[in-house]
Amino acid sequence: MADSTELRQTLAAVRAELTAIPRLDAKALEAAEVRLLGRKQGALTEIMKRLPGLESEEKRAIGSEANTLKQELEAVFAARHAALDAEALSEGARGLDLTMPGRSRVRGGVHPVTRVVEEIVSIFHGLGFARATGPEAETEWYNFGALNFPPDHPAMDMHDTLYLDVPDRRTKEERRRNRTSGISAPHERRDLLDRRDREEGRWLMRTHTSPVQIRVMLTEPPPLRVVIPGWAYRKDTFDASHAPVFAQIEGLAVDEGISFVDLKATLSHFAREFFGSKTVVRFRPSFFPFTEPSAEMDVTCGVCGGTGCPACKGTGWMEILGAGMVHPTVLVNCGLDPERYTGFAFGMGPGRIAMNRYGITDIRLLYESDMRFLQQFTG
Ligand code: PHE
Repeated sequence: MADSTELRQTLAAVRAELTAIPRLDAKALEAAEVRLLGRKQGALTEIMKRLPGLESEEKRAIGSEANTLKQELEAVFAARHAALDAEALSEGARGLDLTMPGRSRVRGGVHPVTRVVEEIVSIFHGLGFARATGPEAETEWYNFGALNFPPDHPAMDMHDTLYLDVPDRRTKEERRRNRTSGISAPHERRDLLDRRDREEGRWLMRTHTSPVQIRVMLTEPPPLRVVIPGWAYRKDTFDASHAPVFAQIEGLAVDEGISFVDLKATLSHFAREFFGSKTVVRFRPSFFPFTEPSAEMDVTCGVCGGTGCPACKGTGWMEILGAGMVHPTVLVNCGLDPERYTGFAFGMGPGRIAMNRYGITDIRLLYESDMRFLQQFTG
């Protein structure tokens, strides 16, 4: 028979600990909880384990007292845990200064050239022109040949164009098959010849965005209306007015019945939208191998309004783009019938336009990523 006196003494000893619990720190609280309530060897568990050895009356009395004590202990432990948690929270908040100003975020801005590009593209979008793009590494055929440049054109010189050292990527077998094909239908043979030209010329960094005209005409049927923003590369020394990599925007419209009137009306409308409704435009005759007739378009100087100033070198005019009617040979090179289709094309430099608009005199500022310069255009 278990000794009920001893059990009562243990119960009393455990009860005596109740009052100390609200003052224990986190570590001592943890230890006391294990010692008194632990499921394996806690004091109350020990008492419960010994209950079966008592006589029934003692068993009931001590059992019920142990249960009450257990509930009281659990409540006191829970209260102390909550108090300690709350203390820890306010402890963490003590170092917090709610009046301190927030950390400012560095916000990027849209680059002035990109801004001009997006504005131009959106004006043409309003006229029904979609955006097209093409690769910056091209073959001679796309960049020159298809655009009707004669083989000895000076632009094709190593001094003007950045050629790439790219080995022929086709297998010998593929090349042999193209050269000795037995297909005799004239249009199919022409297609094979073109393909050979397209793929076998030297590779280069495109010197203008005009090769994308070719890519668009080869893949989409007319009516076509596209604007083509992109980078162009020329072997120029980086100085105040030349950058070896510069932005261009190409435009192309091909359909039945397009005339020079459409070219003039479209580009005049663009100039008034971009530079202001009072802008006057003039067209001067020019030459490009891929357009005929060709023209250059000037707009009244945005700085002086046309009276003459240093920005327009005293002329009152700013040259902003080259344009012309798509040359019939170019249409033929793209498989289009020049008796049925006509078109116009244009090309402009948004970098130069940004310089005019913002009064920037050195093109290098646009491409040096100097934050002090660029921050003027954020917002
Ligand atoms: N590709 C020409 C250049 O880079 C510009 C141009 C484009 C002219 C389209 C006429 C038509 O100078």
